[in-house]
Amino acid sequence: MSATLQSLNLDPTGRAAPAQVSAGIPTEALQVVVMGVSGSGKSTIGALLAHALEIPFLDADGLHPQSNIVKMAGGLPLTDDDRWPWLELVGAALADAGAEGTGLVIACSALKRVYREAILRAAPNVRFVHLSGSLEVLGNRVEGRSDHFMPPALLRSQLATLEDLHTDEPGFAVDIDQPVLDVVAESVARLAAPALPASVRMAVGRGGLPVVRVHGANGSAEVYLQGAHVTGWTPSGGSPVLWMSALSDFAPGRPIRGGVPLCFPWFGALEADPSAPGHGFARLAPWHLVEAGDEAGDVVLVFRLTDSEESRASAWPHRFEALYTVTVGARLGLALTITNLDNTEVTYEEALHTYLGVPDIHDVTVSGFEGLPYLDRLAGPPEQEADGGPVTFSAETDRIYLGTSTDARVSDGSGRTVVITTAGSASRVLWNPWSTKAAAMADFGDAEWTGMLCVETANVRRDAITLAPGQSHTMSAVITA
Ligand code: BG6
Repeated sequence: MSATLQSLNLDPTGRAAPAQVSAGIPTEALQVVVMGVSGSGKSTIGALLAHALEIPFLDADGLHPQSNIVKMAGGLPLTDDDRWPWLELVGAALADAGAEGTGLVIACSALKRVYREAILRAAPNVRFVHLSGSLEVLGNRVEGRSDHFMPPALLRSQLATLEDLHTDEPGFAVDIDQPVLDVVAESVARLAAPALPASVRMAVGRGGLPVVRVHGANGSAEVYLQGAHVTGWTPSGGSPVLWMSALSDFAPGRPIRGGVPLCFPWFGALEADPSAPGHGFARLAPWHLVEAGDEAGDVVLVFRLTDSEESRASAWPHRFEALYTVTVGARLGLALTITNLDNTEVTYEEALHTYLGVPDIHDVTVSGFEGLPYLDRLAGPPEQEADGGPVTFSAETDRIYLGTSTDARVSDGSGRTVVITTAGSASRVLWNPWSTKAAAMADFGDAEWTGMLCVETANVRRDAITLAPGQSHTMSAVITA
């Protein structure tokens, strides 16, 4: 089976990887030129990148004719006539890797657009990773090296020659003024991502986890690939709507506390296997960003997760595809589509576990649930009947409303009302841990519980979804603040 970017050890020394990176593309299809001036770290980063992608690495310096090496060692800049035969060899190596399906990372300065075009003519699927740094950063790096035939004096001439990647060229620039392994992690994440509009950026976020940052005309947001976890959303001209714990973990395989955890394929603890992760494996899994677009200022991101060896070994061993569409604008749209790829019927639970920020939970009222039956998770069965008024909060609250599709209207006491409109969802969860439970949670500040309320769009318990083979179901929520 071909290697994918799903499980990468970015550190060839075998130490723990500083970042979890993931993608759904077969890495053997990648043809990558790591470009930049001398001192930018092309060879080191190129080799690490190739290692992370599990494909071969080649240093284009080794393809230079001897006459070029002598010139450079003597402090003489190469002319274009010196470079054409060399660039032909670079293009040919990439083209061969493409034809053989082995994938290849080449470190090659490729400073001018015409050089890159020469490479692209030979190997049209190449993507360029430009290691970009200021004169100061580059100068310090070059001076610190003794193993290279490029004297630091050539740096200025190289920088004068350098033409940054233009937006119509395939590739991206990565800032080298960060730890080398972070440069590699960012490169891997961006190679894995689809072409991104200017309003969307991939970056290395907290705890070294890859994150998608959105700055659209109508709103901004942040989504971690781990769990496709929305950790922030602010409509333009407004204030942040989602709550995040100041003590949240940001670590591979640890749940993030706040934002919108995605619960799938079970909710809460799994009865059949109490050791299985709470709220399912999806919120801990590395999702892939498969589409990103900007439609009149609304940014649409699509994330994808499918079954893995690990999920197939879990208490929910089914084959599935999950597509999660996050629309960032004046409203936040969240839509989770599950397709049953198994040859048997499958049943699952799901929740968009939305943490809303509120000034003070004591002043919050939630309407939309009046008179509806609910399961009090603190008291246990039987289901209870809600009274006729809006829900208010004066103690730990953990309720699942079943069989309802009404909008939730959250008035936070400051005049702001957040409305959550849903489709394909029959359950709603209201949760606030209050003081004692919050104090018992390591990733929840002792005093933070007054500032949040979870209003979750879900299909759980008797509202769980059952799909025939090949069938899909979409659950969605649109949040307006
Ligand atoms: C809510 C549940 O949805 O999530 C609560 O109803 C649970 O019972 C809460 O405590 C937080 O869950 P976790 O697994 O993120 O701590």
